[in-house]
Amino acid sequence: MGKDKVVLAYSGGLDTSVAIPWLKEKLGLEVVALTLDVGIEKDYDSIKQRALKAGAVKALVMDARETFVRYFVLPALQADAIYEGQYPLATALSRPLMAKLLVDVARKEGASAVAHGCTGKGNDQVRFDVGVGALAPDLRIIAPAREWGMSREEEIEYAQNKGIPVPATVASPYSTDENLWGRSIECGVLEDPWAEPPEEVYAWTRSPKDAPEEPRYVEVEFRRGVPVALDGAEMDGVELIQRLNQVAGEHGVGRIDHLEDRLVGIKSREIYEAPAATLLLQAHKALESMTLAKDQLRFKERVAQECADLIYNGLWFSALNRDLAAYVQSTQRHVSGTVRVKLWKGNCRVVGRKSSESLYSYELATYDKGDQFDHRASPGFIHIWGLPVRLQARVQGLAEDPLGLQAPKKKPSRHFEYD
Ligand code: ARG
Repeated sequence: MGKDKVVLAYSGGLDTSVAIPWLKEKLGLEVVALTLDVGIEKDYDSIKQRALKAGAVKALVMDARETFVRYFVLPALQADAIYEGQYPLATALSRPLMAKLLVDVARKEGASAVAHGCTGKGNDQVRFDVGVGALAPDLRIIAPAREWGMSREEEIEYAQNKGIPVPATVASPYSTDENLWGRSIECGVLEDPWAEPPEEVYAWTRSPKDAPEEPRYVEVEFRRGVPVALDGAEMDGVELIQRLNQVAGEHGVGRIDHLEDRLVGIKSREIYEAPAATLLLQAHKALESMTLAKDQLRFKERVAQECADLIYNGLWFSALNRDLAAYVQSTQRHVSGTVRVKLWKGNCRVVGRKSSESLYSYELATYDKGDQFDHRASPGFIHIWGLPVRLQARVQGLAEDPLGLQAPKKKPSRHFEYD
C-alpha cells in the first residue's frame, strides 16, 4: 500500500507552498495540489510548476468559473446578499465551492484528507471546515498554517531551506484574495481604522479623481433575476461579470471600506474592490423594486440578511440555505427587465428601469391628465387607517402631552366616538 494522500487547495502563495513539504515531512502524506481558476487571470502553468517543485505528486488546475457563477454568485445576487450592508461576499462564496471541489478530487484520487492554507484567526477556515465536514465527514481536514506556529519570517526561511521559490507577493505588506465577484485587501497600514487606504492597495479600480470626465451609461438586462445582457449584447455570466469589473472599475466604482465583524468574534478592517458586484447588486435591487410588491420587498430584505449571514458564517451547505434559496428562486419569477446605470467618478447610480412585468402604473402614478387613481376613495381609506391611532390618542390622553415630555397626571377621559 502506498502512502496516504491529501488534496491541498493550492494558491501558489507562501503559506500553501510551504504547506506542501510540511504535509509531506511532518505527516508523511503525498500531496495533490489543486488550484482553481475563479476568474482571475494568472499564469496557472507556473503555479502548477511551483507546486510540483515544492514536492507535490500531482498538480491540478481546474476552471471553476462557470460553476462559481452559476451555483454561488448568481444565487447570492438574486438574494441581494451583502454582509453588514457592505461586503458582497466574494471570498465567502468561493470557499464552499472550493470545499466541494476538494472533496470531489479527494474522492477521485482516493485521498483520505484535504488541506487548506487558512490560519486560525479568520472566517475562511470555518467555511472550509464546515463545508468539507458537511460533504464528506470521513475526510480528515488539515490546516497546516493553523498548526505549525511559524512566523512569516520562519516560513520564508523554511521555504528557502527546502529550495522552494518564494513568491513575489511576499514582499507586499498586504494580504489579498480575489475572484470574479471581488477582491479583498487586509493588513499593513489598513489595520489602523483611522488611516485612509493608500492608493496602492487598489488593483481593480481607478481612483475616482483619475476616472474619465464623461459618465458612462450601462444597461443591464435581467431575466428572472439573472443578468443576461450588457448594452443589448447577450453574454454568459462569467463574461458579463468580468466586463463589468473592467467598465465599472475604470470609473472608480466598487471601493469598499468595511469595519467588519468576523465570525471568530473580532472586528477587522477590510478593504474590498467589487465593481461588478456593486453595480449588479444595485441594478438587481432596482428591478426588484419595480417588479415585486411592497410586502414581498420587505420580507425579502429580511431573507437577504439571513442569506448574507449564513454565507459569511460558513453555512452554505446548511438545510436553511437550501430552503432560503428555494424561496429566493420563487421571488425571481417576474424579475425581468432592463436597468440603466450611470457610472461617474466613483459613483454608481441607477437612473432608469423598465420591465414588461412592471408594477409601476403610469395611470395610477401620474399627476397629469389621464390620472386614474380614485381620489374620492381616499378619505374613507384614511378614516379606517387612522382609527386605531385616534382611539388610542383619545383614551390615553395624547393631546395633553403630544411630545411625551411629562409623566401622565390625571386619568384621561374614557369617552370616544367611534366614527
Ligand atoms: N474578510 C473577508 C471574509 O471573511 C475576506 C477574507 C479574505 N481571505 C483571505 N484569505 N485573504 O470573507
